[in-house]
Amino acid sequence: MQTALVILAAGQGTRMNSDLPKVLHPLAGAPLLVHAMKSGAALAPARIVVVTGHGGEAVADAARDHDPDVRIVVQGEQRGTGHAVAQARAALDGFDGDVIVLYGDTPFIRPETLAAMIEARQENDVVVLGFHAADPGRYGRLMMTGDRLDRIVEFKDATPAEREITLCNSGVVVAGSRLIFDLVEELSNDNASGEYYLTDIVSGARRRGLSAGVVTCDESETLGVNTRAQLAGAEAAFQARARAQALENGVTLIAPETVFFAHDTVLGRDALIEPDVIFGPGVTAESGARIRAFSHLEGCHVSRGAIVGPFARLRPGAELSEDVHVGNFVEIKNASLGEGAKANHLSYIGDAAVGAAANIGAGTVTCNYDGVFKHHTEIGARAFIGSDTMLVAPVRVGADALTGSGSVITEDVPDGAIAIGRARQVNKPGLARKLMQKLKDARARRQN
Ligand code: UD1
Ligand code: CA
Repeated sequence: MQTALVILAAGQGTRMNSDLPKVLHPLAGAPLLVHAMKSGAALAPARIVVVTGHGGEAVADAARDHDPDVRIVVQGEQRGTGHAVAQARAALDGFDGDVIVLYGDTPFIRPETLAAMIEARQENDVVVLGFHAADPGRYGRLMMTGDRLDRIVEFKDATPAEREITLCNSGVVVAGSRLIFDLVEELSNDNASGEYYLTDIVSGARRRGLSAGVVTCDESETLGVNTRAQLAGAEAAFQARARAQALENGVTLIAPETVFFAHDTVLGRDALIEPDVIFGPGVTAESGARIRAFSHLEGCHVSRGAIVGPFARLRPGAELSEDVHVGNFVEIKNASLGEGAKANHLSYIGDAAVGAAANIGAGTVTCNYDGVFKHHTEIGARAFIGSDTMLVAPVRVGADALTGSGSVITEDVPDGAIAIGRARQVNKPGLARKLMQKLKDARARRQN
């Protein structure tokens, strides 16, 4: 049976108190919406539909950025979750299978839970994901008879007795495509909120003599983000899980609580991560890589045996081969470093290819930007770049070549050559003492 995802992301998220639509707030370096898309994508859905409304274009862009095949529908006015699902009908035209409804602000639903819901569809026409809430608050309540779900009561519409129920609605629903769209067409908004509730499809199904059932999951999975405080809580929960997972995968974290992961960080077995390291999105570090304290990595690859930091910054496109060393206060962007290359101190290497075993001296800068265009620097294998060399790109330093310290290199350096591009030194005997005496005399005159 094929599946399709419908992700509801039209709400404004007023309580975030933000100009950014709620579902675009980042969690572990990716918008909340992307987390929902990733959970659902594990089921290999035939189609993914995102229902947008507030901040529609930005939300659509983020969705397409993650998955270019996503279909976007616009819910002009937010008239309830049932109304939102109804907007997806045309986008699922010709699709025949199970529709899974997810919320864009609920990032932690596990793929295994969705798979269990698909499985439960064999016995039920409608399957709802429920959870036992420690504090049921304003969640919708699941009204059961045995293991059959009779209906869902929204908090606002519930009687005091119904509010005592602690089995709550997560919002995730699975039903056959034809059925779910027929049921949402029939909804009424005659309720406390004046909205078309998706939750009412349960009683709709039961009226037709169809069955509804519940799959339960841990409350931590259903955590939704409505406020900045909940976003911070979600981040903490994500990080705690990511750290535990890394340790289990054989990564050494000396101080786990000080290391921050992105949603897609990949670390090989026996990688060693020192304290206070931050992984932005898109980092892979191979087995045995060592990331030393206070380093910030993003969009980069670190190979086996490489050492990064302390205090290093790897920006998108940094590609470190085996046994590369990148030391303190070195920034690398869109640049590859060949096997065994070293840049150990105070350098900026951007838009460059550095050959194997090349040595980049302290203070070296690739001057890659002329104010309009970015230019490329090439450094050959085993080249020795003297300290404080300015490499004015586009420029190429050949294999086994050497640049003198303090050089400004504006022309290509042939293989094996020495390039010196700096003013010649002149010594003036005795002049320093004379100058100093003059200054001291001037000070004495002023003080009198
Ligand atoms: C909903 C459920 C409730 C459940 C709770 C779990 C309904 C009627 N109620 O309540 O039973 O316990 O979620 O968190 O479904 N959205 C749209 N368009 C709309 C309305 C909402 O896209 O017109 C989106 C929102 O952006 C959000 C999601 O649907 O991502 C849920 O909407 P929200 O208003 O937060 O529902 P709740 O009142 O929390
Ligand atoms: Ca909500």
